[in-house]
Amino acid sequence: MHRSIAIASGLLAVASGQLVGTQQTETHPSMTWQQCTAKGSCTTKNGKVVIDANWRWLHAKTGYTNCYTGNEWNSTLCKDNKSCASNCALDGADYKGTYGITASGNSLQLKFVTKGEFSTNIGSRTYMMKDDTTYEMYKLAPNLEFTFDVDLSNLPCGLNGALYFVSMDADGGLKKYSANKAGAKYGTGYCDAQCPRDLKFINGEGNVENWQASSNDANAGVGGHGSCCAEMDIWEANSVSTAYTPHSCSTVEQTRCDGDKCGGTYSADRYAGLCDPDGCDFNSYRMGDTSFYGKGKTVDTSKKFTVVTQFVGTGDSMEIKRFYVQGGKVIPNSESKIDGVPGNSLTTKFCDAQKKVFGDMYTFKDKGGMANMAKALTAGMVLVMSLWDDHYSNMLWLDSSYPTDKDASIPGIARGECDTGSGVPADVESASAGASVTYSNIKYGPLNTTFG
Ligand SMILES: *[C@@H]1O[C@H](CO)[C@@H](O)[C@H](O)[C@H]1NC(C)=O
Ligand SMILES: *[C@@H]1O[C@H](CO)[C@@H](O)[C@H](O)[C@H]1NC(C)=O
Ligand SMILES: *[C@@H]1O[C@H](CO)[C@@H](O)[C@H](O)[C@H]1NC(C)=O
Repeated sequence: MHRSIAIASGLLAVASGQLVGTQQTETHPSMTWQQCTAKGSCTTKNGKVVIDANWRWLHAKTGYTNCYTGNEWNSTLCKDNKSCASNCALDGADYKGTYGITASGNSLQLKFVTKGEFSTNIGSRTYMMKDDTTYEMYKLAPNLEFTFDVDLSNLPCGLNGALYFVSMDADGGLKKYSANKAGAKYGTGYCDAQCPRDLKFINGEGNVENWQASSNDANAGVGGHGSCCAEMDIWEANSVSTAYTPHSCSTVEQTRCDGDKCGGTYSADRYAGLCDPDGCDFNSYRMGDTSFYGKGKTVDTSKKFTVVTQFVGTGDSMEIKRFYVQGGKVIPNSESKIDGVPGNSLTTKFCDAQKKVFGDMYTFKDKGGMANMAKALTAGMVLVMSLWDDHYSNMLWLDSSYPTDKDASIPGIARGECDTGSGVPADVESASAGASVTYSNIKYGPLNTTFG
């Protein structure tokens, strides 16, 4: 739903604006995953992981002068959108030292706060690559499933270990936008259903004009443009709560938007854009089963477990199903206990009923609903693995009662056991600096081939 970014700032020297810098070689960490064709018949793929461009050191194309420091642009190098892209370069990343990202075999660990030599980094957003210049495009529908293991025992209230898919360009926009010289190799081209406006570059131009530095995030701001595309949140979670949520867009592929017309978290009118910022979510706690997910519960988050997501059927009748596997046991998703909203999976019927009973906005349907989500999943999407904290609503929409001024006994308000005062970024960044999430053992294939 809401998403924010914190970026390493400091004196590192790195690649270009959308030029490429040469101070640090870009070496993508390797991470294997498996493509299955039948149960027990899987092929290992040698993937690589790349960190998003927004986290990178951005400096003058010659020398070490920062183009962006803290949450402000250098007004000489970046006086307008276009010159910024030709004056500035993105550099390579020291994945472990600067960003706390380590890959090993089939697993990837993301650390929350990393104190590097020159900077303190908060969270990260990474993409799975097919090779050093191309994102892997996963076609997830119709009748396919995606499975991974997660360890989020060390992820408390206010943090979100998110594994999800977005309709980015496979080359990060390199071909479409000639001023983008960096491309997927440097993690460019991000978009999602919030139409994020905190991106420093969109369509090969700086997001410089009309930039407003954030009042509560020392590393971020909101620019005059945003970047929209369809988003399938397979997994947004910490050790307390979890949700899976499709977000449709009336235009599936990456599309730049203007100012408050972008809608989403970063705009004055949340519902003004091409995309559905709220989605149609399944959070077991919110759907009335408070003993299903958490430490010591049916799905025990104090230990590693497997998450299976199936995309059954197509078009408006697509069903999105969830299973867990832990201790060798397959655990079907919890059943909704909310009156008038039966089921344990996401379907158009479920979304219709849930939005009505909870009294929520139903932009999911307005932006094409399951049919447009199925279209995005069928075309192929980029896998995102991230860890973030929330400068807009303290992650309360995931793990607490939200909105906080409503009575928690009203159906749809309670989403988890976290206190309504929890999740303030300044608090979690100091109290839970050592938090981390580990994703591993990714498998992808036809229904029922990757688990059980
Ligand atoms: C901004 O960039 C210009 C041109 O490279 C440089 O002279 C100036 O010192 C920079 N300003 C800051 C505040 O770093
Ligand atoms: C730069 O982007 C802003 C929106 O952030 C837009 O209003 C402006 O027209 C753009 N400038 C140019 C020269 O294209
Ligand atoms: C997958 O397994 C489930 C549960 O055993 C079963 O209901 C379903 O029909 C299977 N689907 C396919 C396509 O084999």
